[in-house]
Amino acid sequence: AGDVDAAPLEQYDAVVSAMPARVSHGTKMRQNQGYWVLDAFARGAVAMQRGGFAPRAGDVLIASLPKSGTTWLRALAFATMARRASPPASPDHPLRRLNPHDCVPYLDMLFAVGRGAVVDALPSPRLMGTHMALSLLPPTVVDGTSGCKIIYICRDQKDVLVSMWHFLKRNGRQDLSLQEVYDSFCEGTCFQGPVWDHILEYWKASNEDPARVLFLRYEQVLQDPAGTVRELARFVGQPFTGAEEDAGAVADIVELCSLESLRSQRANREGAQGVFAKFSHESYFRKGVAGDWMSHMSPEMGERLDGILRERLDGSGLVL
Ligand code: A3P
Repeated sequence: AGDVDAAPLEQYDAVVSAMPARVSHGTKMRQNQGYWVLDAFARGAVAMQRGGFAPRAGDVLIASLPKSGTTWLRALAFATMARRASPPASPDHPLRRLNPHDCVPYLDMLFAVGRGAVVDALPSPRLMGTHMALSLLPPTVVDGTSGCKIIYICRDQKDVLVSMWHFLKRNGRQDLSLQEVYDSFCEGTCFQGPVWDHILEYWKASNEDPARVLFLRYEQVLQDPAGTVRELARFVGQPFTGAEEDAGAVADIVELCSLESLRSQRANREGAQGVFAKFSHESYFRKGVAGDWMSHMSPEMGERLDGILRERLDGSGLVL
C-alpha cells in the first residue's frame, strides 16, 4: 500500500459532516445510510462507494460483521484460492509468514487511508475483505451486475459481542464494560450496526442468488471446516479435483488455517500489529468456540438479545 500515493479525501468532508454522529466505546461514529461506521472510515466509505472501488467479474469479497470469524474465513478463502501457487502444506506459505489480514486486502481500511487504488493493480481473481453493509458497497456490487461474488459469515451475536469486548479490552480499552458493548448491540448502535440489518441484507441477497452470495455461519464452519472449504472452492469456481482430494489438499487447508496453527505463527504472536489498523495480531485469536457468551452473560441477557433479533429477523427465514 506504501507504493500508492494517498488519494485526497477532503472532497467527502461535507457529506460526512452531514451524517449523524455519536461516540460509542470512546470512538466517534457516523451514521451512513442507516449504519454506524467509524468516523475515521466515513470518508473512505463514501469514496469506495462512489467509484473509488471498481469491482470486476471474478472478484471475491469476504464480508462480515467484526468478530464473526472474519480472520478464519479470510485465511480459508485465501488458502483455497491461492492453492496452486502456494500449496497449503508448503513451509513458506504466506499464512505461515503473515497475518491473514495482510494476505487479503481490507477495502474499508485501504480507502480510509486513501490507498484504495492498490487493489486496482491486483490481478484477477481478486480476494478482498470488507465489514461494510451490502448497501454501502458500490451500486454494481449491490445489484450484482459487476459479477463480483460475496462470501458472508455471520455468528451467534452473543458470542460476537463477547468476542468484541475481549478484543477491545486487549487493544487499549481495558476499562470497557461488557454491559456497554451489550447495550450497543441491543440498540443497534455498535460498529457497523444495526447488526440485524447488516445480516439481513446479505441473507436476502444470498436467497435471491446463491451463486452470487454465499452465506456462512461460524458455527457451521466449526462443525465442518472441510465441508466449508469444499463449498468455498465450488463457489469461487475452483472446485477440488479428485487428485487434490486424494492428496489431502482440503485437510491441509483446514490444518493451515486452524486456530492453533495460525496462533502459533510468529506474525500472529505478541508484539505484531497491523500497519494501518493498530490492533495486535494475537488479539484476533482467542478461544474460537461457540457458546462462550455463557461464561460472561446471564441467561436473561442472552434471551433479551435473542428476542430482539427474533423480532428483527421475523419473516426472513433466518434464525440466529
Ligand atoms: P472468540 O473471541 O470468541 O474466540 P474476527 O476474525 O471476525 O475478528 O473474529 C474473531 C473471532 O474468531 C475470535 O472469537 C477468534 O478466536 C475466532 N477465530 C480466529 N481465528 C480462528 C480460527 N482459525 N478458527 C476458529 N476461530 C477463529
